[in-house]
Amino acid sequence: MKEIGVGLLGLGNVGAGVIKVLADNAAAIEARLGTQVRVRAIAVRSLDKDRLVDVDPALLTTDVDSVIDRDDIDIVCELIGGIDRAKAAVLRAIERRKHVVTANKALLAEHGEELFPAAESGGVDIYYEAAVCGGVPVIRTLREGLASDRIDDFYGIVNGTSNFVLSTMAKTGLDFDEVLADAQARGYAEADPALDVSGKDAAHKLAILIMLCFGTGVDVDEIYVEGIDRLAPADFRFAERIGSVIKPLVIARNTPDGIEARVHPTMIPANWMLADVPGAKNALYVHSYALGASMYYGAGAGMMPTAMAVVSDLIEVARNVRAGVAGSLPLRSYRALVHRPVLDIAGLRSRYYLRFSVPDRPGVLGRLTTILGKHGISIAQVVQDMPEKDGRPVVVVVVTHEAVEGDLREALADIGASAGLGEPVQVIRIMPSAAHA
Ligand SMILES: NC(=O)c1ccc[n+]([C@@H]2O[C@H](COP(=O)([O-])OP(=O)(O)OC[C@H]3O[C@@H](n4cnc5c(N)ncnc54)[C@H](OP(=O)(O)O)[C@@H]3O)[C@@H](O)[C@H]2O)c1
Repeated sequence: MKEIGVGLLGLGNVGAGVIKVLADNAAAIEARLGTQVRVRAIAVRSLDKDRLVDVDPALLTTDVDSVIDRDDIDIVCELIGGIDRAKAAVLRAIERRKHVVTANKALLAEHGEELFPAAESGGVDIYYEAAVCGGVPVIRTLREGLASDRIDDFYGIVNGTSNFVLSTMAKTGLDFDEVLADAQARGYAEADPALDVSGKDAAHKLAILIMLCFGTGVDVDEIYVEGIDRLAPADFRFAERIGSVIKPLVIARNTPDGIEARVHPTMIPANWMLADVPGAKNALYVHSYALGASMYYGAGAGMMPTAMAVVSDLIEVARNVRAGVAGSLPLRSYRALVHRPVLDIAGLRSRYYLRFSVPDRPGVLGRLTTILGKHGISIAQVVQDMPEKDGRPVVVVVVTHEAVEGDLREALADIGASAGLGEPVQVIRIMPSAAHA
């Protein structure tokens, strides 16, 4: 078989990793594939930059289109990130009948509905294993390993930065800003961490997982998203007191009424497997009809794990080319997507952790619980921490039984508007125990 020619767009963290994996594992890759995968040109923004790997300078160019257009390139490997330039590059590759491998979750979540059909009608592959959970092969598993099963719901830790920050807050008792600054200093968080800590990156990955698991296209903007930046050390202390840990979860359920899709910090039982996913690691916990519960775990980012997933995609596409099936297999695990609505969070039924900061006066707790009761919020537990000095506010934590989110919001608005009751300062959803059965 002729060598497989690859045009690499981007030589940053992941691009450099791809060069390294292809070089370090060349013998194993050739033995598996029966030929070599050769990078023939690399597009970058700057020709003068120091690189993480040695490459022949003659391979480098700043002209992305010239790489895509080369006749000796079979697969375009898009690793520049972002949306607009990456989208133009992928569309051009499809037009030129080049297969595409990408790690770009933002691009696929926002424009997959245009790119996948374009690839299908153009007869080319788009593979994207590294786009969700980095090196953990969840996409291949969902598309192929579970192809005969019906997935009902899943729960994931898919953003390593958020997991690192929350794991460290739980361990050290430090506040969010201190831990984030440390994560940035150690390279676990980007200089601009907004996409990660806001939950937006996780929402992109969730949209891709919903497509693969349920055969449903959802609009990313319809997904309910809450970041992790409002969490405080007190929340972690109370979580421990009720046998829970706080994790940055993506949650999706396929219900008869629509798709439940949400991203938010969640209190989960300390004895659930997802509670043990440490540091920057990722995991996906899936419930399916025939297999039952299964969990996939590992490195969700980083140069080598992510590059490994990208190179595995290159090998798979090369195999498809060899078998004459490239461009004819379903790229999204279902042949056609069905559009279903994302359910409004106001209809969610969940248990809640509520932390209030209330004035240290008699009767305040009674008024608080009366308002909750008036809105049908039934209380399972109340914990009150007396202030160290008189006159300081009292911290009251209320754990509710299952309640409707819309009712809870009305109750919290009433509490906020009631004179002398202080502010509802924190709301965290608590995982139903049935979810981890
Ligand atoms: N890093 C991870 O652990 C990880 C994990 C999973 C998925 N991903 C995804 O992988 C992709 C790449 O991430 P990364 O961390 O490798 O990013 P990165 O380190 O910022 O690298 C981006 C590369 O693209 C090049 N580039 C950017 N815009 C360009 C343009 N207009 N023309 C030509 N070259 C351009 C840059 O060139 P210069 O070097 O000259 O600036 C750089 O080499 C992203 O979609 C990301 O979401 C990353």
